[in-house]
Amino acid sequence: MRYLTFALGKGRLAKKTMELFRQIGITCEEMQDPATRKLIFVNEELKLKFFLAKAPDVPTYVEYGAADVGIVGKDTILEEGRRMYEVLDLGYGRCRMCVCGPESARELLKHQELIRVATKYPHIAKDYFYNRKHQTVEIIKLNGSIELAPIVGLSEVIVDIVETGSTLKENGLKVLEEVCPLSARMVVNQVSMKMENERIGKIIGELKAVLQEEGQICGSSV
Ligand code: PRP
Repeated sequence: MRYLTFALGKGRLAKKTMELFRQIGITCEEMQDPATRKLIFVNEELKLKFFLAKAPDVPTYVEYGAADVGIVGKDTILEEGRRMYEVLDLGYGRCRMCVCGPESARELLKHQELIRVATKYPHIAKDYFYNRKHQTVEIIKLNGSIELAPIVGLSEVIVDIVETGSTLKENGLKVLEEVCPLSARMVVNQVSMKMENERIGKIIGELKAVLQEEGQICGSSV
């Protein structure tokens, strides 16, 4: 039996994922050691491998088949636009992609004005403004602390993730429009889905059962 390889987005998402996997009997003791500098972890018994990657790289590993399965946020899936199957909404990591800014920017969004939009997600922002709102905007790519942009006058609005809303609140900004809801998703390489259909299908089925029991909403869009 060949190894089935999982790419997990580093951080909270990976921790949540391993908690969920534990409930269907998939464990990886090696990963528990907080001091480890190892990059890849193996469960010999189940013939599974796990590795941690920067979230935006997870779809890349999955598209190229270096990982059979990936766990990553919907934001990254939309932004990266890789060819792969999105098979399951895992329900955690729930947040929203929003257009945010000071209250005064609300009017600019209504009147289709040429505004500057700062974001870590230029593809999502472009798709939203060009294809859904039919508004021409200038998109400025930033790498973090996006909320700074309207405060210091770099842009009129931002497109960013809102979870609790406290970053916005503490910086005098508001959600002006909602782009889409987000959560953690399972993605699968297109060839692996065919070649390892039985093993991957079983994992998806078991995860669905656990999520349904917990009342998490899950869906499939293979
Ligand atoms: C994210 C996001 C917002 C914040 C939203 O930033 O970009 O800044 O979390 O969370 P909240 O609504 O609960 O306040 P992250 O912490 O990932 O850091 P970043 O600035 O590098 O994007």
